[in-house]
Amino acid sequence: MSRSTSVDIRDRKQSEVQLRKAKAALESVVRERTLELQATVLQLRREQEFTQVVVENVSDGVVACDAEGRLKLFNRAAREWHGCDPREVPPELWATLYDLYEADGITPLATERIPLLRAFQGESVRQAGMAIAAQGQETRYILASGDPLFDAAGQKIGAVVAMHDITERRKSEAALRQSEAQLRQRTQELEAALKELQRTQSQLVQSEKMSSLGQLVAGVAHEINNPVNFIYGNLAHANAYIQDLLNLVWLYQQHYPNPVPAVQQEIQHVDLDFLLADLPKLLSSMRVGAERIQKIVASLRTFSRMDEAECKAVDIHEGIDSTLMILQNCLKAKGDRPEIQVNKHYGILPLVECYAGQLNQVFMNILANAIDALEESYALGRWNPNMLPSLGDRPIDSPSGPMITIQTEQVSPSSIAIRIVDNGIGMSAAVQQRLFDPFFTTKPVGKGTGMGLSISYQIITERHQGTLRCCSEVGQGTEFMIQIPVIQIPVSQ
Ligand SMILES: Nc1ncnc2c1ncn2[C@@H]1O[C@H](COP(=O)(O)OP(=O)(O)O)[C@@H](O)[C@H]1O
Ligand SMILES: [Mg+2]
Repeated sequence: MSRSTSVDIRDRKQSEVQLRKAKAALESVVRERTLELQATVLQLRREQEFTQVVVENVSDGVVACDAEGRLKLFNRAAREWHGCDPREVPPELWATLYDLYEADGITPLATERIPLLRAFQGESVRQAGMAIAAQGQETRYILASGDPLFDAAGQKIGAVVAMHDITERRKSEAALRQSEAQLRQRTQELEAALKELQRTQSQLVQSEKMSSLGQLVAGVAHEINNPVNFIYGNLAHANAYIQDLLNLVWLYQQHYPNPVPAVQQEIQHVDLDFLLADLPKLLSSMRVGAERIQKIVASLRTFSRMDEAECKAVDIHEGIDSTLMILQNCLKAKGDRPEIQVNKHYGILPLVECYAGQLNQVFMNILANAIDALEESYALGRWNPNMLPSLGDRPIDSPSGPMITIQTEQVSPSSIAIRIVDNGIGMSAAVQQRLFDPFFTTKPVGKGTGMGLSISYQIITERHQGTLRCCSEVGQGTEFMIQIPVIQIPVSQ
């Protein structure tokens, strides 16, 4: 063996040893790396599992898709609400499993409006309301918010949407709204009841007042009636006696033309000629006076039928006249205010079946209002030569003076109409609208109660099945028209 050959063999052995060592080192590194890798994979799996458990267990629904738009995530809440896991069902079958609606729960949700699709297309969706109706389940109302997803390099990798269930909130809101509505209705009912109560109360007070006024008037009429009859009845006798005495005086004068001085003196003292001429006039004016008192008493009696409860056929004109009689004093001239003229245009009316006392109350209310309106017109300068008229900027027609016109007519075989017109202050449209409302008044406290017309309205429409209408113009005057049937048909109360 040559020297060189033996060197070669030694070298190779050495390299073999080195190779073996290197291999062993490599193997140990690989083992180490594998162990490390295994640990990392385990760690990763744990983390993934953790994330999955978290996503699975949040109470909101979470859904996500990948860069190709494939559904990748559909957590438990989302599955429950949809009644399925759409990842396991081909997309063409989804519509058989659940329906999506707009927030109203009625309008079907168009595909392009589905939040995950909108997010996938790049939109940032915030609180989009919608409803999910899964087969055999209660409809769930949700608010969905979502965004597209990008990786660190800015590459789109999908989209995610979180859904919040607001079904219960909606339910309690609806319940609240309903109970609010109920409360409102109840309040309205109570308010109406209160108004009705106030109306009844003041009506009671008013009718109590009118009935005691009626009683008072009836009492006064009765008290005056006796002495007046007494006077009137005796006037005829007084007249006869006085005629006898005058005849006697005349006879004396014929037979004793020249009486004794004492008688002559007395004849001059009493101014016998004047006395003889005046006495008959005096008597007749006493009769006129007594007759007038009798008329007043009759009017008072008619008026005081107020509290008569039954429905009777009466002469409407008598009722109007008796009311005018009661109001006579208010119609007279006062200070500078000229007398209020009353023009009566009475038609031929049949007897009308009515509650006469109540009807008189209506005449009273309307006439008293007319007088107030005329007084107010006067206070504003109308019919007053010393003051300039100042009723807004309207030109004022100047009829002779304050006037009330009362017109009656039979408008059909079965009904009559009474018009009461004044040329007073008139009313704006706003006042006319509320005219018949209980407690509506434009008069100062203490003067107006606002009950007159509301009671009149009730008496005419409810009690007599008639109509009460008003027509008025500011500065020109007002007309009230009452229409009532001639015969009352009984109504069941
Ligand atoms: N003839 C009228 N002319 C002008 N206004 C009138 C007339 N009649 C009624 N009104 C208006 O209607 C309101 C209500 O009348 P009413 O019910 O009788 O209550 P009151 O007379 O107590 O105010 C009056 O305050 C007044 O403003
Ligand atoms: Mg009144």
